[in-house]
Amino acid sequence: MHTEISISPSKKMRIDILTLLPQLIESPFSFSIMQRAQKKGIVEVHMHNLRDYASNKHKTVDDSPYGGEAGMVMMIEPIAKCIDKLKSERDYDEIIYMTPEGEKLNQKISNTLSVKENLLILCGHYKGVDQRVRDLYITKEISIGDYVLSGGELGAAVLCDSIIRLIPGVLNDETSALSDSFQDGLLAPPIYTRPSEFKGLKVPEILLSGNPVKIDQWKHEQAIMNTKKRRPDLLND
Ligand code: ADE
Repeated sequence: MHTEISISPSKKMRIDILTLLPQLIESPFSFSIMQRAQKKGIVEVHMHNLRDYASNKHKTVDDSPYGGEAGMVMMIEPIAKCIDKLKSERDYDEIIYMTPEGEKLNQKISNTLSVKENLLILCGHYKGVDQRVRDLYITKEISIGDYVLSGGELGAAVLCDSIIRLIPGVLNDETSALSDSFQDGLLAPPIYTRPSEFKGLKVPEILLSGNPVKIDQWKHEQAIMNTKKRRPDLLND
């Protein structure tokens, strides 16, 4: 009989996301694991439209840069107003700015963030935010890779997905996050399901053997081989 391990989370995580385009980021939170985590009451996600914090009647949130460069810069006032309000309500473990200039996201960063209680994530747009936002408020800058996106929203969704799936109780089978690629510094071994043979390609005999010790050993060897072949840099780390 399959017994489900249920681990009740000690505290709820709260994530506040500050963006000019809440619609762009809502959908990833409305499906699959991220939706389930919210329905289970393990995570609370709040979107804040920075335009609601603009002070003039035109709801201006951006302006041209000092020094005459092309493009627009996100102004400090609406961002400061929103962050100050949220900070007055609770303490944040990290105030994160999504930017290609940040630390490159990896499993270690996601693991560290998955045990936090309150996270605030600021998504940039246009040329980015006024430097003083970074100087005054930001405690961590994260990039999801060495390429430039049109804004921080997709990066924030990637970051949240990688964090949320790690929180105890989010995945039904607790071992399934533990066996993710990278979780033990290795890529995952190959996986198979029925049929046991397709177009002459057979599932490795060992997986049909019913011997859990041998299967685990095989999976570990395969994970090492996979990592050596595709990502030898992970073994050096
Ligand atoms: N915003 C624009 N590009 C980005 C990237 N690569 N990572 C995170 N945020 C970004």
